[in-house]
Amino acid sequence: MIYSKIIGTGSCLPDKIVTNHDLEKMMDTSDQWIRERTGIRERRVVEDNETTGTLAEQACLRAIESAGVDPAEIDLFVMGTTTPDLVFPSTACLLQKKLGLPDCGAMDINAACSGFMYALSVADKFVRTGDAKKVLVCGAETLSKITNWNKRDTAVLFADGAGALVLEASEEPGILSTHIHANGDYVDLLTTNAGVSVGWEAVSENDGKPEIQMRGNEVFKVAVRTLGRIVEETLGANDLQKSDLDWLIPHQANLRIITAMAKKLEMDMDHVVVTVDRHGNTSAASVPLALDEAVRDGRIKRGDLLLLEAFGGGFTWGSALIRY
Ligand code: UT7
Repeated sequence: MIYSKIIGTGSCLPDKIVTNHDLEKMMDTSDQWIRERTGIRERRVVEDNETTGTLAEQACLRAIESAGVDPAEIDLFVMGTTTPDLVFPSTACLLQKKLGLPDCGAMDINAACSGFMYALSVADKFVRTGDAKKVLVCGAETLSKITNWNKRDTAVLFADGAGALVLEASEEPGILSTHIHANGDYVDLLTTNAGVSVGWEAVSENDGKPEIQMRGNEVFKVAVRTLGRIVEETLGANDLQKSDLDWLIPHQANLRIITAMAKKLEMDMDHVVVTVDRHGNTSAASVPLALDEAVRDGRIKRGDLLLLEAFGGGFTWGSALIRY
């Protein structure tokens, strides 16, 4: 049996910090409301000269360095993003040469906030079938570019960042299982108001740029319900119990969703990696950013059992159970 094992992680955040107090000066909101309803204190936002690709490049370089592999050995690059640099080529292709990768497969996957879980799932399947031996997986976003900075219901939530990891084929586990799902019934609850083929006519309010539109309260309820189900599906598929888990590494959308998941799993918050307070919701970047932080500061150790999960626009949702 071939498993894929994480052999290195990396991440990158923009230097610019936007605090809740900064937002108080821009719109009708308060530090207290944002902290109480979301757990966010501050978030990182790119400058004009930074893109999803520039953040992803740094995260990938750090993951490759920590894995100690030659980039020429990578035989697949999968990138989760919903804010690519260009319509095409894909951000993965734009980075392939800069990272020194060979002419391996390189692709972007758009599954909104679940983009990294989808990318990890695809990468894991390539390794398990023997088609790839070393895979670079990245989740990166510049959601600030599709945020309407005049609208408090979304502007206080979303942010920018990138996280990455390198998988290697191994006889020892490894990723035990991945699970991905989608349900298009909920398109309207979390969406953007314009696009390449539909056109840009709807875009009048946000300086001619598309914007994230979310019915937050409804998304919240479905997210908690759905993530509860996928956690059970994931443990059940591996015949494991909640008590076997060492770490929950959840999508960082809202601290209240994260604590609800920890409660469902009967996990102490000391075993949940939380970055939403400092990172905000970085969509496809949030899980690999949290993973890298907890690996680098020594919380996550070899042999620990990790549950990763995410939920986002589509709706899409996904999870992975990993023996680190
Ligand atoms: O990552 C992809 C998945 N996304 C998510 O999982 C996000 C899920 N949703 C959420 O995190 C939460 O629903 C939000 C943080 C977006 C909103 O929190 P909420 O507790 O659901 O608030 P609400 O939308 O029910 O609004 C409550 C009140 C409203 O005022 P009234 O009608 O009670 O007078 C809003 O107008 O809070 C008001 N409000 C704000 N007030 C200050 C909404 N946004 C803000 C704001 N500052 N930024």
